[in-house]
Amino acid sequence: MSNLVVLGAQWGDEGKGKVVDLFSERFDVVVRYQGGHNAGHTVRIGDRKVILKLVPTGILRKNKQAVIGNGVVVDPAALLQEIEGLEAAGIPVKGRLFVSNRAHVITPFHRLMEQLSESRPGRAIGTTSRGIGPCYEDKVGRRGIRIADLIDPEVFRPIYDNLAADKEVIRAAFNLGEPVDVEATRRQYEEYGARLAPLVVDTAAMLNAAIRDGKRLLFEGAQGTMLDIDHGTYPYVTSSSAGAGGVASGTGVAPTRIGAVLGVTKAYITRVGGGPFPTEIHGATGEELRKIGNEFGAVTGRPRRCGWFDVPLLRYTAMINGFDSLVVTKLDVLDSFREIPVCTGYKLCGKLITDMPATTQAMAAVEPVYENLPGWGKPTAGITKYSDLPARARDYLQFLAEQTGVEVGAISTGPERSQTIVVPGSKLEKLL
Ligand code: GDP
Ligand code: IMO
Ligand code: MG
Repeated sequence: MSNLVVLGAQWGDEGKGKVVDLFSERFDVVVRYQGGHNAGHTVRIGDRKVILKLVPTGILRKNKQAVIGNGVVVDPAALLQEIEGLEAAGIPVKGRLFVSNRAHVITPFHRLMEQLSESRPGRAIGTTSRGIGPCYEDKVGRRGIRIADLIDPEVFRPIYDNLAADKEVIRAAFNLGEPVDVEATRRQYEEYGARLAPLVVDTAAMLNAAIRDGKRLLFEGAQGTMLDIDHGTYPYVTSSSAGAGGVASGTGVAPTRIGAVLGVTKAYITRVGGGPFPTEIHGATGEELRKIGNEFGAVTGRPRRCGWFDVPLLRYTAMINGFDSLVVTKLDVLDSFREIPVCTGYKLCGKLITDMPATTQAMAAVEPVYENLPGWGKPTAGITKYSDLPARARDYLQFLAEQTGVEVGAISTGPERSQTIVVPGSKLEKLL
């Protein structure tokens, strides 16, 4: 089975955009299955840098189709703006991008509700403020608006007005901001609907037909498994199923049609927003890693919190997703470190634990157990052959593979497409 999932093995920003862009050459359709424009997937091609938010990364390659599945939440204004930006940059979108009629629509009310939840003292998640969580809340609450509704003004009007009335009650009760102009925003959304209508299809039917026709699908995860609504560091998570389990529900492609799952992980780890982070590095070393790795959010520009590679976390996300192989990115960022600590275990109340703690309190109380590995003291940036890597860099990767129990199938040594090594003889090499 040749359909492949590529997703984040940590807390997001692992370099999924780069990896999907590179591997999409061998696939016909690239599919997003969850999240929304909270994602920021960076692709560097020569001097050109593109940050994809809602549009699947496959759009950057000629003759590939890009599909926004039903599990995604769509802000129509953000999507239209992204499409315009791509077309202005000479990347044709028309006829290649398809949006599920069952995807949910983010409205101005969702952003307003998020202001409310994020302004509760001491209870903010540190979200991207894109209305993502409140939109998923309405989806699960069975009062959401879907793309199929948006593009049919007769259907759209009453649903939009009902949702507006519900949210106005909450806004007024909490004395939050100004009321949303329902008439004006509805008209605006009707216009968005008319513009998006040509892209809207039953993507589940389309993808299953593509599989029957022998086409290969690449599923592009957003966020990371530790931000998954079920399996992540709840409540400091996003509101969707970022793990491999989200693929089937978020696209309508059955689990039996998914061939393999690839985990993308940094050679260290980062996180944006609030929540526990056992291997976080405070002080000068953390600053250094942030500076060398240019660890600032692609969407919000916020500085990313940086930490050392966390084996228990990776073992956990490998279990949840059943990783067949790992892609280790940003190896080059560690080039100048003389010693590289790797967390190989968690202690809680002085005892080694084997399962990932379920509560924020326990996760925050975990003491990482470190093993110090020697740095390699030579540049790896831009290396494209495994045998050209310094021996100690290969030892580091080997250590990660042994400790996590998953092969390292590919290594990224820079942001460019070409700065990548697919390990000869790896399972990943055969999967591609
Ligand atoms: P994504 O959300 O998982 O697609 O990741 P982001 O795009 O948010 O963040 C990854 C950042 O690291 C981007 O700026 C990439 O250009 C950059 N990047 C990816 N791989 C590498 C690498 O191997 N080395 C370096 N130095 N940068 C990389
Ligand atoms: P990509 O796809 C990193 C984080 C936010 C916040 C939490 C909830 O680029 O890896 P949300 O707005 O989703 O309700 O915020 O999730 N977050 C991300 N962190 N990368 C992302 O996406 C993220 N998308 C959301 O910072 O902590
Ligand atoms: Mg990102």
